[in-house]
Formats: sequence, structure tokens, C-alpha cells
Amino acid sequence: MLNILKPLYPAFFASLKSNPESAHITTLKLLEQLYSQGDNFWAKCIIQDIEKSFSYHHPSLCQSLWNLKFDNPLGLAPGFDKNAQGAGIWHSFGFGFAELGAVTLHCQNGNPLPRMFRLPKDKAILNRMGANNQGAEVIAQRLQQTWQKKSRSIPMGINLCKSKITDLNQAADDYLGSFRLLFPQADYFVVNVSSPNTPGLRSLQGGEQLELILEALQGENKGEKPILIKIAPDLEWEEISTILRVSEQYNLSGIVATNTTIKKEGLKTEILPETGKLITEEMGGISGKPLRNRATEVIKFIYQETNGKLPIIGVGGICDTESAWEKITAGASLLQIYSGWVYEGPWVVKEILQGLTKKLAEKGLNHIQQAVGIEHNNC
Ligand SMILES: Cc1cc2nc3c(=O)[nH]c(=O)nc-3n(C[C@H](O)[C@H](O)[C@H](O)COP(=O)(O)O)c2cc1C
Repeated sequence: MLNILKPLYPAFFASLKSNPESAHITTLKLLEQLYSQGDNFWAKCIIQDIEKSFSYHHPSLCQSLWNLKFDNPLGLAPGFDKNAQGAGIWHSFGFGFAELGAVTLHCQNGNPLPRMFRLPKDKAILNRMGANNQGAEVIAQRLQQTWQKKSRSIPMGINLCKSKITDLNQAADDYLGSFRLLFPQADYFVVNVSSPNTPGLRSLQGGEQLELILEALQGENKGEKPILIKIAPDLEWEEISTILRVSEQYNLSGIVATNTTIKKEGLKTEILPETGKLITEEMGGISGKPLRNRATEVIKFIYQETNGKLPIIGVGGICDTESAWEKITAGASLLQIYSGWVYEGPWVVKEILQGLTKKLAEKGLNHIQQAVGIEHNNC
């Protein structure tokens, strides 16, 4: 039934342009309500319809990674469900996994409004949310209740960020506090040191502080859950190489490439209508189409540097089969989507997955894992 609505999506999307954050909050509230009413006949019918319209299963897309089973490689990127309100329902939208958060130890409001802007000419989003979330304790409780009702149907990750009120030199304790509270509620964790919207956060990518954070988390973890690090697209190759060395030293399970970019040159949008200011003068990170090439370059670099031995979650500008396939062949085992999902609508997950299955068949490959990094074999 929801497929009937697909032609109306562009008009619906355009009508929400004036206040994208309110639209976002309303969507999450509706999904939370729908999930909590899951025993009700009508809620059940709606959830079934969502599944029927948006899900796609094919054996060539299933894979096991870190002892977790992924029904397909496309996940929901963090930032969409910061407070884990939709944790129980993301699988119904066809995602192979979902990453919740960013979660910080302390509850925080984030930056002043407005802080999320659509750039339709660029098929991009500019955001300076500032990791607004209800804090690790509240989110841990919400997740515990969610999993009590029904255990996780897809792998769930949690994106951890430093609280704004915590000094950079106390970052390790802050991440550790959240990790301890959330440990039972997730299948993997991502150390987010790459958001441009928490002052000084990205400096943690280079310094000794990163080692302290990873030492603290791995000390607590004792090898039980996969821990990954998410990096910025704006790093130099040397800086990425250093992170890869540290990742090996601390036995990280993978790299998420990439977060949003602070580079705003070359965008079609020159002035941000909401503020009247030049886009290049606006604070925040750009996601979506303008990020696509750089994120893919970073994935290629990581794959080459690690000889394909360190799993990569590829994210940045995925909006169709081509952009998803490009990241897989560059070296990503898993993918995430945010802006593309918002721009194209929830149908895009199924379309991408169907497209990937077709691509595999065209290339004579039986399984998605055979396509990971395949581009490097042709050099
Ligand atoms: C509004 C918004 C909020 C975001 N919040 C987070 C976050 O809390 N943690 C994080 O690691 N990434 C965050 N991101 C970045 C996304 O997870 C993703 O890395 C980025 O948007 C690139 O993917 P895309 O081009 O598919 O959007 C956010 C992105 C957007 C648009």
C-alpha cells in the first residue's frame, strides 16, 4: 500500500523544507508510537505494510562479520535516531543494521536552532546539531525496554561521542562512562571523534587522547564487542595512516568512513536562504552528494593501506545502486545511508539492495563479499 505513495514523496518532501528538524522529530515520535502499539491490530498491519514495501532479502547479500549476521549490507547511519526511539522498527524499513546516537554521557541540548538545513540544489544536508541527545543512562533504559519486548532483529550499533561539558583531556572517562552504561544494549560500538559540531572533538583523531580513549574502552571490553572508529573526510592521508596504526595497536574491529565534511567550496548553493549568509561562512558539516567522492577516496585509501584486512563501513553520499556499488568495490564491507534516505524516501533501501543483487549477477559474482575491494584487483 505504501508503494502507492511513492510518486507523492517529492512533493511531501518539499513541503517539509521550511522546518526539517520538526519533520524529523515528528517522524521519530510516530515511529516510536507505532512500535510501542505493536500488539494493536492496526499497528501490526502498518508495520507489516512497511516491511512489505521497503524490505528485500536475497542470499547473495547476507554476510557474517564480527560474529554478527547481516541480512544485507545497508544500514541506517547515526545521527538519524539519536535517542534510540526507533530501535525496534528499523529492520522493518529494510535496513541490514542500524547505528543509534551519537550518545554522550551527559544529556545535552545541542546547538541553537535552526541547525539542520537542506540544500536541495546539491542534494545535501548542512547540520550543526551538536550531538543533542538524552544521555547514555536514559538511552540505555529505553533500549533495555525495547529489547525486553522483542530481541534485536538486526545488528545494532551505538555511536559514542564526548559530552560538550567534558574537557578534551577527560574524554577517555566520558566515552568509558557511556560505554559501560550502554554495553549490554548494542552489538557494536563506534567511537565518534569526527563530528565537526562538538568543539575540539576532531582534534582527538590525532592526539594521545585517542590512544587513552581506546585503551580505556578495550580494557573494559575485553574483546567482547566490536569497537570501530569513525573518521572525518577532511583528514590528510598521513593522519589517516596514523589512525590505522593506532587502530591496529588497539585491536579495533573496523573503520567507519566518513563523517560529514566541513569543506563547503564548490556547492551549488551559494547563500543559505534560512540565514541569508554565504554557505562558506556557515558552521556545520555537509553530507549527501557533495561528500560522495571524497568518502569513496578515503575508503580506497584505507583498503589499500590495510590490504583489505580491516573491515570498513562506507558512508557518504550513497543515494542509489551506483553510489553504493562504488563504495563496496572501493573496499567497504558494509554501508550506511542518511541524506540519500531523506532525499529519495524509504523506498531507496529496497531499490539499492535489488540493484546490488543485479550488479553481482552481471559481474558473475555469487556473493557481496566477493565484490568488496574488487576494484583494487583491476589495477
Ligand atoms: C542531521 C545529521 C546528524 C548527524 N549526526 C551524527 C552523529 O550524531 N554521529 C555521527 O557519527 N554522524 C552523524 N552524522 C553523519 C552521518 O552519520 C553520515 O556520516 C553523514 O551524513 C554522511 O552520510 P550521508 O551522505 O549518507 O548523509 C549526522 C548527519 C546528519 C545529516
